[in-house]
Amino acid sequence: MTKLSAVSGNAAALDRLGRPLRDLRISVTDRCNFRCVYCMPKEVFGQGYPFLERKEILSFEEIARLAGVLRGLGVGKVRLTGGEPLVRRNLEQLIAMLSRIPGLDLTLTTNGSLLKRKARALRDAGLQRITVSLDALDDATFKRMNDADFPVAAVLEGIDAAAAAGLPVKVNMVVKRGLNDAAVLPMARHFRASGHILRFIEYMDVGHTNGWRMDDVVTAREIVGTIAAEMPLDPVDPNYQGEVAERWRYRDGSGEIGVIASVTQAFCRDCTRLRLSTEGKLYTCLFATAGHDLRALLRGGATDREIADAVTGIWTKRTDRYSEIRTSQTAKLEKIEMSYIGG
Ligand code: GTP
Ligand code: 5AD
Ligand code: SF4
Ligand code: SF4
Repeated sequence: MTKLSAVSGNAAALDRLGRPLRDLRISVTDRCNFRCVYCMPKEVFGQGYPFLERKEILSFEEIARLAGVLRGLGVGKVRLTGGEPLVRRNLEQLIAMLSRIPGLDLTLTTNGSLLKRKARALRDAGLQRITVSLDALDDATFKRMNDADFPVAAVLEGIDAAAAAGLPVKVNMVVKRGLNDAAVLPMARHFRASGHILRFIEYMDVGHTNGWRMDDVVTAREIVGTIAAEMPLDPVDPNYQGEVAERWRYRDGSGEIGVIASVTQAFCRDCTRLRLSTEGKLYTCLFATAGHDLRALLRGGATDREIADAVTGIWTKRTDRYSEIRTSQTAKLEKIEMSYIGG
């Protein structure tokens, strides 16, 4: 049974599978200065790709208003994503606006390319922690992944700048077979020494331009096996219910890693995430094929109450569990691109 809660009260609405709304992932731009082969392949996202126009994208005021309304519906974590969030001008202004909403865990996922310059301002504006994507430690492999000729050293400098500014840092690495699987051990060794938590992500069939095949997926089990053979690991309990990463600790006490097994061990059962696209559509799943237009409500003069009711209506009808029911057929569906819906 679906339970409808009073939007102004604290009781969180549950979706059809009994899951509360807890996390909001906001894509602040559909643009990126990288062309990662698993996300925005150049052949598709090159010259002439129809990125959103400025008037189509939500303003900072609109985003902050929605986040405030969603806070009232139980959202406790907001993650800014993209595209690459730091290519959106003056992003620290949005962070400052969001940091005024009480009780939010406020974080951001970035490719790190602009982080050296921005880390201090982000921290000063109220960002609480940060996740940096990095797929290899050697330039040849990293450049093959990002397809934008971007060097590893600049991302490492960004990570250092974030840590120096006082931001706790996590690092995410997507592993694609035959492309960067040889970088798993060097990455583990490097970040074990640095103290930042490194998480390995199974390559997913998100979007429909990356030509995903199951054979390209290096499983979390394989990754843990490879690392544990050199640096023994023990499992650790999750930090919170619904954490996407499975945690492992180095037996010698030198820190921990995570594996995000969204392909081989789906975690839909605990999925409490809602995604807001750059142009203000709400998506109840990373693999959704259609969204709900909130921008029309915002720009049509809706009250906070009307927006809250609309979101509650969407959430209480939610049945998504794509990763649990993935088949070779569903993997071929025309899904929304990750750069648009937000990682
Ligand atoms: P913490 O707040 O630090 O626990 O981070 P997080 O793991 O919630 O967020 P992060 O953005 O670091 O997620 C890591 C990766 O997991 C993403 O980039 C995606 O590849 C994958 N992921 C996150 N959310 C989902 C989801 O809802 N479904 C699926 N299938 N994958 C997800
Ligand atoms: N599979 C897994 N992770 C992906 N990301 C982007 N595309 C994919 C994919 N197909 C990751 C990025 C980044 C986060 C935003 O999502 O590497 O860490
Ligand atoms: Fe850009 Fe991140 Fe996609 Fe790479 S994975 S193209 S850095 S949005
Ligand atoms: Fe949530 Fe959809 Fe990912 Fe499952 S596939 S964890 S329902 S976003």
